[in-house]
Amino acid sequence: MPFPFTLNILSGPNKLQEAFLDAFEESLRKRIFATSPRPIGLASGETMRPIYKGLILRLQKWPREDFEKLRSGWLSFNLDEYVGLAKSDKRSFSDFMFCSLGKPLGLAPNQLNLPNGSCEDPEEEAIRYSEEISRFGGIGIQLLGIGLNGHIGFNEPPCGLDASCREVFLSEATRKQNSIHFKDEPNLVPTKAITLGMKEILESEEIHLIVSGSRKARILASLIHSECTDLLPASWLKTHKRVFLWADHEASMQVEINN
Ligand code: GLP
Repeated sequence: MPFPFTLNILSGPNKLQEAFLDAFEESLRKRIFATSPRPIGLASGETMRPIYKGLILRLQKWPREDFEKLRSGWLSFNLDEYVGLAKSDKRSFSDFMFCSLGKPLGLAPNQLNLPNGSCEDPEEEAIRYSEEISRFGGIGIQLLGIGLNGHIGFNEPPCGLDASCREVFLSEATRKQNSIHFKDEPNLVPTKAITLGMKEILESEEIHLIVSGSRKARILASLIHSECTDLLPASWLKTHKRVFLWADHEASMQVEINN
């Protein structure tokens, strides 16, 4: 089987961020001239933090008119949100996105969408969120990080490729991984989240998976060498025709590449 991803391995995290941003910036430039571009799919997490920082610096150098076109036409949908946290909660993904992109770019709340984690009925909210994305034609370019257990968004293993946007329980591994924002106490991390499913992710036009740092080396090697399986949700990305994998040397240490 031909290797299913376009592979970009860079020598360090900074090179990785800049190389990815070259591609993303190019796609945003095209977006300002497109008639009705599909929404942008965004991810949260530590991998994305320096990328959004770098993106803001680049966009500040754009000609005013182009920047205004991008800003006024911006429409993005994030992958996931914790259930039970208010939008303004510093630990929520909504607040992370507001601080990373919403505030610096001056976006209106309806331009930077996330599932509402403080809603009364998360299952209903998941359906609403997925329908809202469909109303705009599905995601165009989708940015992704990967969890240490191979989750994408919060699609925890086991997860099939047809799982759609829904409320999920978070695994112990994920609550541990994300406890840095919860006083390093996994028990303080919410037990549930709303996440786009593999279905909505795989329906996007183009996917960019960004993997950085040695702690991701084991899961990246598993992903590259694995068959598609429910036990490694990210492996379903191999069924998509346009996946770009961006990794630094640290994350790629355990990958064996045979030409
Ligand atoms: C988190 C989020 C994902 C994110 C992934 C990687 O739990 N649900 O959307 O991409 O796990 O996170 P990080 O970049 O912090 O390693």
